Amino acid sequence: MLTLQISTQDRIPALGLGTWKSARGEVAQAVTSAIELGYRHIDCAPIYQNEKEIGESLSIALQHGGVRREELWITSKLWNNAHAKKHVQPALESTLRDLRLEYLDLFLIHWPVHFQPGIVFPKKPEEYLPYQAIPLGETWQAMERLVEKGLCRSIGVCNFGINRLAGLLQLAHIPPAVNQIELHPYLAQADMLDFCKKNEILLTAYSPLGSGDRPAAMKKHDEPSLLQHPQIIAIAEKYQHSPAQVLIAWALGRGTAVIPKSVNRQRQKENFDATRLQLANADRQQIDLLNSDYRYVDGNFFAGPGSPYSVDRLWDGD
Ligand code: A2P
Repeated sequence: MLTLQISTQDRIPALGLGTWKSARGEVAQAVTSAIELGYRHIDCAPIYQNEKEIGESLSIALQHGGVRREELWITSKLWNNAHAKKHVQPALESTLRDLRLEYLDLFLIHWPVHFQPGIVFPKKPEEYLPYQAIPLGETWQAMERLVEKGLCRSIGVCNFGINRLAGLLQLAHIPPAVNQIELHPYLAQADMLDFCKKNEILLTAYSPLGSGDRPAAMKKHDEPSLLQHPQIIAIAEKYQHSPAQVLIAWALGRGTAVIPKSVNRQRQKENFDATRLQLANADRQQIDLLNSDYRYVDGNFFAGPGSPYSVDRLWDGD
């Protein structure tokens, strides 16, 4: 299995199973089938509202599936309503209970956005907290304590831009091992890749296939398809692989981890097999040309009327 070393010296399986949008009724089967197929990295988050079902599958796999805990890489995330120091450990403990685990391999701050404690998703402006309300150093220190206590092996962030990451590196005693961000040929983020390579931060690519199953409210009417881009299809035909496999191979070829979501065993296998596909440089360069800095997940759901957050500043402001 292809693995990538992170700054803690642990090795993360480069291909993981994404579980965002995996419905409660199908996620348990999806995780079981992925583990049977050889996946050893599962990407989770409490806001996906399916960690209990994932926990059932993990517990069965660990008890009867011939998999040892040390062989699995389980990531989860700190939700936006638990950034204050006193809420960080309880949030992790709640996730651990749901996942039926004693520790996580990686715990990430999910967004550089704060909500009032207890608010799962704000319906009114006052249910947000402004970004300055909780210093990043406070949340990060609480994350560092979790490593020291053995509740997670490594810590990192998601959806951080370069400026925010640079700020975090300044104040961290334990540097972030991972930044999980949207990455695919339309949003290649080459500067971010350079910055992270220099600073030993691994990038994990979310929405690598374009997340076509996002709820309608999160989709723009004119958004471009990745899986149906003629160039991706042509390269897929040339290698006799699928467009999804080309997208995954492109991500892996850049040295990033990648977490395609699938609840379908056949497609999970297809995605897993993409770890063996090597694209020639010329083809990679063709794909690199598709970059248009296009975000599928632009964060506008945090930027409604009266919110202290705006799409413009979310990715690298403050
Ligand atoms: P499904 O779960 O039914 O397989 P992303 O990882 O970018 O969020 O994309 C997930 C979407 O891509 C889901 O709709 C998922 O559907 C679909 N998908 C996953 N793997 C493949 C594949 N190999 N070919 C086509 N679509 C796929």
